[in-house]
Amino acid sequence: MTQFDPKALRQAFSVFPTGVTIVTARADDGTPVGFTANSFTSVSLDPPLLLVCPGRYLSSFPVFETCSRFAVNVLADGQEALSDTFARFGGDRFAQAAWTDDPDLPPVFHGVAAHFLCTTHQIIPAGDHVVLMGEVEAFERSERLGLGFAEQNYFSLGSVNAAERERHYG
Ligand SMILES: Cc1cc2nc3c(=O)[nH]c(=O)nc-3n(C[C@H](O)[C@H](O)[C@H](O)COP(=O)(O)O)c2cc1C
Repeated sequence: MTQFDPKALRQAFSVFPTGVTIVTARADDGTPVGFTANSFTSVSLDPPLLLVCPGRYLSSFPVFETCSRFAVNVLADGQEALSDTFARFGGDRFAQAAWTDDPDLPPVFHGVAAHFLCTTHQIIPAGDHVVLMGEVEAFERSERLGLGFAEQNYFSLGSVNAAERERHYG
């Protein structure tokens, strides 16, 4: 197997601009878990499928590896702090956020650009991650723009659009 410098590989992957999501689920006892993820991809319209790739290093990995449902929250422009909380904060992440606490559902955050509630369709082992594929049971989108991420930095589609308007209309 080819061995690359993982840091260099991660940096090369990171030139691909993405959005930012927080993937959530509930442990068997109902405890909410979640992590920031930019590995989100839409997969199929019929049936409606999406995927995200949880790393085996996640403290919540045992939950995601066995969950029967999960939610993908697509963060909106301005939700950088929420993204950082679910990427780095070691305490009670959900106490830092506004979210809908329905004991039957994975957490959905307020103010997101879109969210997708999924049942687990397939889990495919993939090296140090797994591919978690979900079938969309319900979704909602708002008028908010999604938050962007590239080269380890957030970017705002709002400012990109403003720059475009400036370029076209001066
Ligand atoms: C923008 C961004 C995207 C990320 N994408 C992923 C991802 O797709 N899969 C993953 O396993 N970790 C991803 N991470 C890292 C996890 O969010 C981070 O390791 C995790 O929240 C740590 O949680 P833990 O302390 O509960 O283990 C990403 C981090 C950031 C900042």
